[in-house]
Amino acid sequence: MPRRRACSPTHLDGPQIAALRRALLAWYRRHARDLPWRRTRDPYRIWLAEILAQQTRVETAIPYYERFLAALPTLADLAAAPLERVLGLWAGCGYYARARNLHRAAQTIMSAHGGRLPTTAADWAALPGVGRYTAGAIASIAFGERAAVVDGNVKRVLARLLGIHEPIDAPATVARLWTVAARLVPPQAPGDFNQAMMELGARVCTPRRPACDACPLAPLCRARAAGVQADLPRRRARATVPEVHAVAAAITRRGTVLLCQRPAHGLLGSLWTLPGTHVGPGALNPRAETSAAPHDGPQLLRSHLHAHFGLNIMTSAALGTVRHDFSHRRLRLHVYAAEVRGPVRARSDGNPLRCVWVPAAELDALPCATVDRRAFKLFVARHRKPGGRH
Ligand code: ADE
Repeated sequence: MPRRRACSPTHLDGPQIAALRRALLAWYRRHARDLPWRRTRDPYRIWLAEILAQQTRVETAIPYYERFLAALPTLADLAAAPLERVLGLWAGCGYYARARNLHRAAQTIMSAHGGRLPTTAADWAALPGVGRYTAGAIASIAFGERAAVVDGNVKRVLARLLGIHEPIDAPATVARLWTVAARLVPPQAPGDFNQAMMELGARVCTPRRPACDACPLAPLCRARAAGVQADLPRRRARATVPEVHAVAAAITRRGTVLLCQRPAHGLLGSLWTLPGTHVGPGALNPRAETSAAPHDGPQLLRSHLHAHFGLNIMTSAALGTVRHDFSHRRLRLHVYAAEVRGPVRARSDGNPLRCVWVPAAELDALPCATVDRRAFKLFVARHRKPGGRH
């Protein structure tokens, strides 16, 4: 294998860097999408947009952005809003820790900084939920600071541009990419430059089949010169993670579904879920394929609901299985339709979950984890089917 120079973060000299900046900014000015947060310099709005865009595709983020700002147009409104309201506005967007941190940071700015938003990347980075990427994005876009950003798109663009074959998720490579990005970002229009890098990654230098013919950086790109653009970037091999199973019940009664709200603290705090329990390995059928439902899922649910909620349920049908891969485990959640017999008030003594019969039509608006949202969808699909029971 040819030896690569490990010490230089980029092969580009001064004139090439100047040419790169010019070409990229010219491309961006012609091709940038007209996004609502590109029409403002309000740091509150840009902050919200950057947090949302980490969560979902830029196009998907737009309705959330508009809805959030219509409800909470200023920092003071966000800080004064109850957490429940903020989580409600985030509903469907997933990863509620981001919404929680946004809320907490707004309260910190109001109480500790007299309501003045930070103006530098370093001060932004001191707030909860604001990492190096977000701090660099806000400082460069809203305040014109020459701060770099490195997100997934920028990593891919730089890995190809510089012909980096080392895994882009290795800490040493990440450090190198930040160094390169800091060197490339210009003193003038750093915010446009950063957005242009991200835009290029999202629209031209895409993960599969990059559109090199349309790329303003093609003449400078090492991967293209070597014909290896489709092979880059590389990632580290993933460790295998264990598979775990759980069962949940969609218990219905007169057009309502029994839902549980988690206690307020913690990562999933205040989010809603169907009642259910984890399945021990003993309940799984050893001869079935690994993702198959446990053979006694309904029985597990009946005894769990009786022991923890004082409810007698009858399960009627398996609605399906939701697969969700967390970084440390692969969850298989088997969902069953059920009805309640006898008392309908779920017992709350010694039970940390608050249980409420919620109209089925309101499920979409409830804040919940992605895996629970998918479980709700299984239920809603059956519920809406012509001739569906419930
Ligand atoms: N992804 C996240 N933020 C972005 C921005 N401001 N422009 C383009 N892509 C982005």
